[in-house]
Amino acid sequence: MTRPGLIRPAGVRFAGVGTALPPRVLTNDDLAKLVDTNDAWITQRTGIKTRHIADAPTTTRDLAVQALRDALDDAGMDAASLDLVIVATMTPEMNCPSTAVRVAAEVGAKPAGALDLSAACSGFVYGINHAAALIQTGHYRHIAVIGAETLSRVVNYNDRRTCILFGDAAGAAVLSASDNAAQGCLHQTMRSDGDRWGDIFVPRSESDLPEGSPVGVDQLHAMHMNGQEVFKFAVTQTQQVIDETLQAAGVTAEELTAVIAHQSNKRILDLIQKRLGLPPGKLVINIDRYGNTSAASVPLCLNEKRRAGELSEGDLVLFVAMGAGMCWTTSLWRL
Ligand code: UT7
Repeated sequence: MTRPGLIRPAGVRFAGVGTALPPRVLTNDDLAKLVDTNDAWITQRTGIKTRHIADAPTTTRDLAVQALRDALDDAGMDAASLDLVIVATMTPEMNCPSTAVRVAAEVGAKPAGALDLSAACSGFVYGINHAAALIQTGHYRHIAVIGAETLSRVVNYNDRRTCILFGDAAGAAVLSASDNAAQGCLHQTMRSDGDRWGDIFVPRSESDLPEGSPVGVDQLHAMHMNGQEVFKFAVTQTQQVIDETLQAAGVTAEELTAVIAHQSNKRILDLIQKRLGLPPGKLVINIDRYGNTSAASVPLCLNEKRRAGELSEGDLVLFVAMGAGMCWTTSLWRL
């Protein structure tokens, strides 16, 4: 909400972080009862052991509301203080209205602005990049960014190449204006390559299918992924934007307190860690417990680090994500 006479804020800070995880846990052994797979293969190729699944009637909105309430609690802030609510998701409840308007209403943030952001696994980092820039204009003081997904609704549990990867969750951050000029986003990138859209997609009708696609009309409304292509693209492109961001900000990898990366595959994370020469622990990894939760994975990691007391004011934190679109992104912060 625009506040006439507002003094242009100097910085942006994470005022609060929160999460929501549905209670049901799906193990690798559970999946082995559904498709031809096993715990050893999934663990070795992905690093995933368990993921959480939201059973009906729980929806993306429910998880988003729970995560935002948790973040507001952490911030010690009333929902009425929020100026804008951004929900990053690839599994919104409906195309119209946005999930965000109902989340804002449910938590008591009305009449804050609200919008959904569609950038798949990059959604939360795209969201904090937008929020940081908006707060820096001085027109907004408190913006909630939520990554919320119920991927189990678009996963085909007959397809062993995809169903082993994904889980449901939400994570939220409340970003606020700060008087400390040193705090905030030091550098950010947001990239896309729509020519590669067919590497991960959820078709709604036959006309959405790429020419010559082996996907049948009986496989609409389910996620299709070319895992190997996505893997290669993730490794090369994320490393490139990480290098670019660190260089632009004049920061070295050693100076980073934490790298908070989208949890797509433990092997991708290991390659990033090796390439940056990071000591164990600096790159947050929780994919073993939650799987790939798309837009929720980065705030889930941020929340764990913060609640463990491992992040302090002044720390340098690099966020990085990559996923369907293809979309990829970085966001370097001085906390
Ligand atoms: O969030 C961003 C979006 N997604 C990603 O970042 C995903 C990136 N890609 C990946 O994580 C990996 O490509 C996967 C985990 C999806 C697949 O791992 P992979 O090492 O690339 O396996 P692959 O597709 O090359 O398959 C190797 C073999 C194949 O058997 P053949 O043809 O060599 O006999 C597959 O049929 O493994 C087989 N396979 C499986 N075996 C047991 C594929 N999925 C499974 C499975 N269990 N679940």
